[in-house]
Amino acid sequence: MKPQIKLLVLAITGTVLAALLATTASAANEAKASAAKVAMQKFHKAPKDVDPTCKKISEGKASKEELEQVLAAYRVMAAEKPVKGDEASWKEKCAALIKATESLVSGKPDGVTQYKAAVNCKGCHSVHKPAPPAK
Ligand code: HEC
Repeated sequence: MKPQIKLLVLAITGTVLAALLATTASAANEAKASAAKVAMQKFHKAPKDVDPTCKKISEGKASKEELEQVLAAYRVMAAEKPVKGDEASWKEKCAALIKATESLVSGKPDGVTQYKAAVNCKGCHSVHKPAPPAK
C-alpha cells in the first residue's frame, strides 16, 4: 500500500470509530431518564381512552397493587435530585405524594383528598419540570 493510501484508510477508520462512539454515548444518555420521568410516563400518563393510574387513584379506584407500584416509584423519585429547581421544595412535594399514597395503601379515609392535593401537576411542573428543548 502506498503511504498516502495508508493514511487515507487510517483517517476513514478513525472517523467511523468516532461516529460509532458518539452514537453509543448519546444512546447511554437517553437510557438514563430521571426517576421522575419514568414515574410520569408509567403512572401519570396513559394512552388515549385509558385512565392513567394517578386518575384512578384520585377517583379512589386504584387497586392496592397499583398503589404500591406508584408508591415505590414516588420513593425512587424522591431519593433522586430534582432535574430542576430547589431540592427542599422537591423533597417536600415528593414527601406529600408518598404520604398520601401511604394513607391510601393503609386505607385511611382522607387518602384521596390528600392525594389530589399532592398530585398537583402544574404546581410541581411549574417549578421542577424542565422546559422542552427548543425545536
Ligand atoms: C412532585 C412533582 C410532580 C407532580 C406532582 C407531577 N409531575 Fe409530571 N413531571 C415532574 C417532573 C420533575 C418532570 C420532568 C422529568 C424529566 O424531564 O426528567 C415531569 C414530567 C412529566 C411528563 C413528561 C414525561 C416525559 O415523557 O418527558 C408528563 C406527561 C407528566 N409529568 C405528567 C404529569 C401529570 C399528568 C401530573 C398530574 C396528574 C404530574 N405530571 C404531576 C414532576 C411532577
